[in-house]
Amino acid sequence: MTALPIPNIRLNDGNLIPQFGFGVFLVDPAETERIVSEALETGYRHIDTASVYGNEEAVGRAIASSGIPREELFITTKLWNTDQEDPHGAFDASLERLGLEQVDLYLVHWPVPMHGTALGAWRGLVEIVGSGRTRSIGVSNFEVEHLEQLLGETGVVPAVNQIELHPLHQRRELVEFCREHEIAIEAWGPLSQGKSDLLEREEITVPARLRGKTPAQIVLRWHIQHGNIVFPKTTRRARMVENAAIFDFALSDAEMALIDGLDEQQNFGPDPRTFDAR
Ligand SMILES: NC(=O)c1ccc[n+]([C@@H]2O[C@H](COP(=O)([O-])OP(=O)(O)OC[C@H]3O[C@@H](n4cnc5c(N)ncnc54)[C@H](OP(=O)(O)O)[C@@H]3O)[C@@H](O)[C@H]2O)c1
Repeated sequence: MTALPIPNIRLNDGNLIPQFGFGVFLVDPAETERIVSEALETGYRHIDTASVYGNEEAVGRAIASSGIPREELFITTKLWNTDQEDPHGAFDASLERLGLEQVDLYLVHWPVPMHGTALGAWRGLVEIVGSGRTRSIGVSNFEVEHLEQLLGETGVVPAVNQIELHPLHQRRELVEFCREHEIAIEAWGPLSQGKSDLLEREEITVPARLRGKTPAQIVLRWHIQHGNIVFPKTTRRARMVENAAIFDFALSDAEMALIDGLDEQQNFGPDPRTFDAR
């Protein structure tokens, strides 16, 4: 099982993260072991899950049966909203379900500002990273005001912010803030979750046709050239191969600029300022 040739990005804490991986949101827990095993066979080594996805156990089984040395894998999981007041307990439960002694990245999943518990959760993650059971910590769906509060109150800068980001929703102000503070951007929904006509736009289809690439490959390549970390989700083996075949070509500056021009500030996921899923 040869690993794909994926570049690493160095996080602000010195750790390396593969810039490309595999996401398992909405992958049926009953199918997850098989699908993650196929991704690992395809050469993926970076897996993004979360306690709320309900598939950590299946991810853990796929990891265990792969025989791939633990140090060759990069595993992320996330603290769910209802667990923000017990980050230690929730983290222990995630490790247990994954069957791991350590994860590579642990994230606060949403800021849920209406509850005022994210800051306490972050302080818990700081203790957890201090214990060595996660190598890095970060946040997800944090807007500038949530990051400012976290930095102001704790002084501990997250290694990443995992946010909805794709050509139709480019989050320029937030991305700028993160870059200034050396917070790496993880782009969730990199293909707009299949909920838009993004893959049919001519800014995407023209460079695809020119290169004999697919529209999805063009969009994923655009992310890579912007320095975003991405982990597209697919349940189909052929697409696992397709999505990863983006390191043998480059988009020109002019092609990148045309895709940059697609920003319509159109999100398909929830608004982090009001999202209150429990
Ligand atoms: N932190 C958060 O709040 C948050 C929220 C959402 C997602 N995430 C993470 O980000 C990961 C990726 O985001 P996502 O899964 O929401 O969306 P996504 O990766 O943008 O899109 C997934 C959708 O695109 C389809 N697809 C995949 N490859 C394709 C290709 N080559 N051509 C055409 N369609 C393709 C998939 O269908 P098939 O499966 O049928 O191929 C699926 O319907 C998640 O799995 C999760 O790990 C995090």
